[in-house]
Amino acid sequence: MAVPQYLIHTLGCQMNERDSEIMAGQLETMGYRRAGSEAEADLIIINTCAVRAGAEDHAFGHVGRLKQLKDERPAMTLAVAGCMAQEPGTIAWLKKHAPHVDLVFGTHNLHELPRLLEEAEERDEMLVEVWKSAGETLAEHVPSRRKEGIRAQVNIIYGCDKFCTYCIVPFTRGRERSRALSDVMREVRALADQGFEDIMFLGQNVNSYGHDLDPRVDLADLMEAAETVHGLRWIHYMTPHPRDFSDRLIEIIASSEKISHQLHLPLQAGSNAILRRMNRKYTREQYLELIAKARSKIADVSFTTDIIVGFPGETEEDFEQTLELVRMIRFDSAFTFVYSPREGTPAARWEGRDPVANPIKKDRLNRLMALQYEISLAANQRLIGKDLLVLVDGVSKKNDDVWAGRTQTGKVVLLDRQKDIDLTDCFVPVRIESAKTFYLTGSVKGKALNQPKRRLEALPLL
Ligand code: 5AD
Ligand code: SF4
Repeated sequence: MAVPQYLIHTLGCQMNERDSEIMAGQLETMGYRRAGSEAEADLIIINTCAVRAGAEDHAFGHVGRLKQLKDERPAMTLAVAGCMAQEPGTIAWLKKHAPHVDLVFGTHNLHELPRLLEEAEERDEMLVEVWKSAGETLAEHVPSRRKEGIRAQVNIIYGCDKFCTYCIVPFTRGRERSRALSDVMREVRALADQGFEDIMFLGQNVNSYGHDLDPRVDLADLMEAAETVHGLRWIHYMTPHPRDFSDRLIEIIASSEKISHQLHLPLQAGSNAILRRMNRKYTREQYLELIAKARSKIADVSFTTDIIVGFPGETEEDFEQTLELVRMIRFDSAFTFVYSPREGTPAARWEGRDPVANPIKKDRLNRLMALQYEISLAANQRLIGKDLLVLVDGVSKKNDDVWAGRTQTGKVVLLDRQKDIDLTDCFVPVRIESAKTFYLTGSVKGKALNQPKRRLEALPLL
């Protein structure tokens, strides 16, 4: 019998990327291998994102387009997974508009994929199995197929208890649940043994890590433990909440060679009135205090952020306070979003009463982006002439003649490529030569620090 083939389309954040790796690991354990295209796939999974309407429209569009493939090859299995599956509206939509979908499962039961597939194959109609919340115990030891390269993502905490009023995540990902420190560290050590050298700790809210464990631990404890793992060069984490960033964590980051000196601190808005209605639990003054503290302690610290414009009731004065903070803080880069009402969240009800008109939302986004681009370019230009370590990910997708990599603080660097040496997965010292808004260019100034060992071996699932 031919080997069955799978394809997973991942939308959304790193948590979804990691979930897709776990789905892929289970499928490969079952004997599937990855398909090169949709036409070859026996199973297609769309791992969806619900954070903004745009991501949802994208998923619905993709599911709709797959009807033709499903008509041509009825034996093929089509599954919808991820955050949208947790929303009742999605199930109703799929039943009405996309009965060609075979299986729907959510964020809490992806470790059951083998059983779900078996059951879906035996049925004529759509199988929907979505858990409202996670079970009592976290699913450990589920195999996963990580993506190519020497960067690995490691879940440390699932869910979010913050309930920002615009955000769907607490509903789609459930309450906060931390993995045991020993389980996380076992995974990190195994990854380092396999040759992974850059680790990203993942959670919707990483600095709540450990508050629900007995004995209680925190992100600083985890960082201290990870710091000692032989073979790891860089440690990243995503995403912290500005309210819970402890002084001890700042000290540990400041004194570490491995932990990134990039602080991604989602600001969301610059006006206290809006921050209060967003339920962000900090004021602009407290946010500024955190920035000042980190700047005074962490050498060459780089700040990045997320900002939403057009939250219900946001006035021009509120928005100008956001611009003012952006000018004061000078983030290296920012992800900027137009507010998107999410059904079931408090802000979606306010959007009905007090929306910001669409043209105003767009105008604010444009003004914010123009300001941020100016600041990003200036921040990048300050790096010209500096020597930085770059982890090369591979040949640039856009230009065959250059290598693309990133600095420890996440800045993209492009390097001229000599075709006789392979720098993929190498940490190389680089002199920065020019700066654009979204990337730097430079030239290699010495030998690679590592001999990446992971590519040389067959890759066992981990
Ligand atoms: N509308 C617009 N942006 C949102 N985000 C989260 N929810 C919404 C929403 N309803 C943004 C926040 C968050 C990032 C991941 O997505 O800025 O930090
Ligand atoms: Fe959403 Fe707020 Fe939780 Fe972040 S902290 S996931 S924005 S509720």
